[in-house]
Amino acid sequence: MRSSGGRLLKDCRKSLSGRMGPLFLLLLFLHEAWGAMESRPNVVVLLVDDLGIGDPGCYGNATLRTPNIDRLAREGAKLTQHLAASPLCTPSRAAFMTGRYPIRSGMASYSRIGVFLFSACSGGLPSTEITFAKLLKKQGYSTALIGKWHLGMNCNNKSDFCHHPLSHGFDYFYGIPVTNLRDCKPGEGSVFILGCRLLVFIPLQIIGVALLTLEMCNCLRLFRVPHWVFFCLLFLAAIILVLLAVFHHYMRPLNCFLMRNHEITQQPMSYDNLTQRLTHEAIQFIQRSAEMPFLLVLSYLHVHTALFSSKDFAGKSQHGAYGDSTEEMDWSIGQVLNALDEMRLANKTLIYFSSDQGAHVEEVTSKGEMHGGSNGIYKGGKANNWEGGIRVPGILRWPGMIQAGQEIDEPTSNMDLFPTVAKLAGSPLPEDRIIDGRDLMPLLQGTSQRSDHEFLFHYCNSYLNAVRWHPQNGTSIWKAFFFTPKFNPEGSNGCFATHVCFCHGHYITHHHPPLLFDISKDPSEKNPLTLETEPRFHEVQQVLQEAVDRHKRTLAVVPNQLSLGNVLWKPWLQLCCPTSGLSCHCDTESQDPGVNR
Ligand SMILES: *[C@@H]1O[C@H](CO)[C@@H](O)[C@H](O)[C@H]1NC(C)=O
Ligand SMILES: *[C@@H]1O[C@H](CO)[C@@H](O)[C@H](O)[C@H]1NC(C)=O
Repeated sequence: MRSSGGRLLKDCRKSLSGRMGPLFLLLLFLHEAWGAMESRPNVVVLLVDDLGIGDPGCYGNATLRTPNIDRLAREGAKLTQHLAASPLCTPSRAAFMTGRYPIRSGMASYSRIGVFLFSACSGGLPSTEITFAKLLKKQGYSTALIGKWHLGMNCNNKSDFCHHPLSHGFDYFYGIPVTNLRDCKPGEGSVFILGCRLLVFIPLQIIGVALLTLEMCNCLRLFRVPHWVFFCLLFLAAIILVLLAVFHHYMRPLNCFLMRNHEITQQPMSYDNLTQRLTHEAIQFIQRSAEMPFLLVLSYLHVHTALFSSKDFAGKSQHGAYGDSTEEMDWSIGQVLNALDEMRLANKTLIYFSSDQGAHVEEVTSKGEMHGGSNGIYKGGKANNWEGGIRVPGILRWPGMIQAGQEIDEPTSNMDLFPTVAKLAGSPLPEDRIIDGRDLMPLLQGTSQRSDHEFLFHYCNSYLNAVRWHPQNGTSIWKAFFFTPKFNPEGSNGCFATHVCFCHGHYITHHHPPLLFDISKDPSEKNPLTLETEPRFHEVQQVLQEAVDRHKRTLAVVPNQLSLGNVLWKPWLQLCCPTSGLSCHCDTESQDPGVNR
């Protein structure tokens, strides 16, 4: 028996290495190739708007309930010094998508307006920029962006879509082109009040005073001012008022609408079950992409104002409308995690969770209700470069590949996702440009204990605001400010008079020498160092200055995407659903059978 069995085996081997050999090798090769393909993870990005690092339970909040974010942290790595490349939406997201400081792509403003306010403006992420979605798509990934974009729409006409997500590497887009503004919700007030005051009320006041004086002093007759001057002024005032009314009336439909790819599906958008709809879209995308590697960027409208939440969440949290909307966002994350579990994709998926910048501390309603989140122990918030504005939650989960339950204190940036996922997808990095992000995997997998970011530069719009130095052989985190925003009222924690802090002119205080902190000892930035308190004061300042000089030499002059001409509303770029005539109202959402609305 044994000998015949042995002979059989020998025959078998012979025939395999003979006739069957090539086929066997081919099968082996295909199997290996498939294996290699399979090792590339899906990527799910969960990006929240304006969420503070003091909000999630796993970052120390005991009263806001975020069980699903906490689960991610338990099952993955929690970054405690994760830094947004900018404290404002548009530049931060530009940096996130491209792995580069926003100043390199022209997505950093020189004026007070640091973000896009209109869907019909001509600025946006230039098509010469490479997003990580573009790289992954090229590697065969199926890619989708669900939710907020805020990186522009058109350049020259209504249908070039030069800045649209589909022109930046996404196969599928469902969401809003700009951002969730207060103006999007009826009765919520306007973010344009200040602008209106300047553009409308001041001219109106001047005209009013002029008219009154002309009338009262009887100047028309006395100084022979012609009557037409009077009527012209009256006419001008009327036009300004009418424009204001039209603008107010149209603000919602013009800026707040939902699109599926290039089509408008709801204008103005409705808040009814909006998070449910976005979640449903995200899960549907996962379901139809499960066979190939995919990239899903789920970019929440939460927790930016106007705050909203569906019936199941309204009034349920301990923190008013802000807490409700945070808890709804957390619920949505839970739905995505469940879907991945059900499809057995959890181990094949890298999840990244973060916020585009710190909480907006000035968001307090006229009734005194907090509509902005918590930045925990950190100073400042959205729109400034104190830690509260840029230190954001950052969690990465990939079961089996990233050790669960880690906490990483090294400085990391939201620009790091770009090179990280490029490498995992097998894509080389672009060689014709500077990539500022660094691969996170060595830190996450414990093969390196040090962040690759020795220096990080903190911009306030296009102005270099501060620089951070983590010496390769020390534990200090030096941070020097070249200027700081003037908080208003003085002694408060934000710029309440202007609602956001600005980056230049009389809104800031310059510091010579730069204001220096050691963040590793003074994370709340309370005690600026001096030569008396820090013997290395001069040496540190000098190293920082040299780093800034080196950095500045790497900057090229590029077109400014946030110039006045590029942020203004351009009527010929205004998207309006085609069937609605001039009213810009339509709703095809309710025709979608799968969604509870
Ligand atoms: C938890 O979050 C809420 C809402 O942002 C905030 O009011 C509260 O202060 C936070 N708690 C802590 C300990 O940060
Ligand atoms: C929202 O969805 C729920 C079910 O999840 C449904 O009962 C409700 O009617 C929907 N609300 C609206 C306004 O469509």
